[in-house]
Order: sequence, then C-alpha cells, then structure tokens
Amino acid sequence: MQIIKLNAIDSTNNYLKQLLMDTALEDFCVVTTKYQSKGKGQIGAEWMSERGKNLTFSVLKKNPPVKLPRQFHLNILVSLSIVKTLEHYSIRKLAIKWPNDILSDHHKISGILIENQIKSNRIDFSVIGIGLNVNQELFKGLPKVSSMKSILGMPINKDELLHKLINNLQIYFKMFSEKGKDIVNAEYESYLFRKDKPSTFELPDQTLFTGIIRGVTDAGKLRVQMEGATKEFDLKELKLLY
Ligand code: BTN
Repeated sequence: MQIIKLNAIDSTNNYLKQLLMDTALEDFCVVTTKYQSKGKGQIGAEWMSERGKNLTFSVLKKNPPVKLPRQFHLNILVSLSIVKTLEHYSIRKLAIKWPNDILSDHHKISGILIENQIKSNRIDFSVIGIGLNVNQELFKGLPKVSSMKSILGMPINKDELLHKLINNLQIYFKMFSEKGKDIVNAEYESYLFRKDKPSTFELPDQTLFTGIIRGVTDAGKLRVQMEGATKEFDLKELKLLY
C-alpha cells in the first residue's frame, strides 16, 4: 500500500489533490497526518482533531465505479467500510447518520468528506477524506462527540486500524463493482440512524417539523415521510435534531 505520512498539513484532502497534479499515485494511495491546521468538514465546517491522537487521512480512488449523478454510492461504500471496521473493534450501537456521520450510541466518532474530480461528465478520481476519533478523550464543548478509546476504555493502535480500514474500503469497492448497488444500499439503510422512527427536523428558516426517515435516493437525498407525502431533501435543506 502506498502511504504518505506527514507530521502536519492544512488538510490531507487538499494535499492529496495538489500532489496528484504532478505525481503518479497508486489507486488507494493514502495520505495521513498527525495534525491538520485547516481540516475540512461537511458544508464548510472545520474538522478539529487533537494532535497525534486520531486518524485524519485521505484515500485516492481512481476511476471510481460510480456514474454521475449517483456519486452518493461512494459515501455509502465509505460509510460501510468504517462501520465494519469499528464493528471489528466491538464498538457498539453503530449507526450512520445521513449522509455519512458515523455514530456510536448517538455520539459522532467519524466523519467523511469526499471530493470528486469530474472530467467529461464522469468522475476521474475521488479524494476520500476520513476523520476518525481514536485516542482523544476530551472534546470540549462537543457533548455529542466521542472516540474509540472513550468507548472501549483502552488505547487503539492507529496504524493497524488504518490498515484494516483501507482493506475494508477495497473490499467494499470490489463488492460494489462485482455485485452492484442493491446489496450495499440495503446494508447502508440497515444502519441508517432513526430510520422508520418519528423524528424532529429543522428547516433552514428554523421551522421544525416531524417526519419519518424512509431511506436515501440514488442521488443521496434523504427521503422523509411527512404528513401526506414523502419528500426528498439534500444536505443543506434540513437538519435532524437528536
Ligand atoms: C464531517 O463530518 O464534517 C467530515 C469530516 C472529514 C474530516 C477529514 S480529516 C481528513 C480529511 N481532510 C480534511 O480536511 N477533511 C477530511
């Protein structure tokens, strides 16, 4: 496995994208760092991680086996790879909060940021950024965040964990290429947080409403059953309160 280990960088996603411009890299090449000064989260948020304690890394996937506009299948494959890895470590009550926050007992332990390079209406390559809280124990001001060490009560070897995760990513990409979307979609929905349960959502204008998550469309929109009809929302259009 091609693995580039850094001490510090602004963001491993940015570094990998930049490196690709003038360097030939292997498929599933990994860039990992002990510290990110500007770790990027979903919708412009920042990803904070204590120096040296966690996994913050990006994986290159060349020619991913997904067709636009169904790029959400990438999020599904990556989410499932993380969940399966965490199950191996006996992390309990795992769920995927749409679109791809990994929760253990309602606490977020991992987040994913995928950036796709589009060429001639297809994905040339994807940079899969993963932040996984491993050995950090204090998350000041973040009551709904946790780590593997906090859950298991013992430190985890980060190198072994990284290798297991990359291995699971390769397994899921292979499975998807060989068997198609149905198996992974069903598996993703089996972990989908609050599926089939009445939940409270907030719209961008701060209106609250009750609805029931029924699933996710191929384009990655959340299907929510509301009074009368089922509607589809994208990430910027609603927030699940929990
Ligand atoms: C989120 O849940 O908001 C997504 C977090 C993604 C964080 C990872 S850490 C490694 C990679 N580099 C980044 O700048 N972000 C991703």
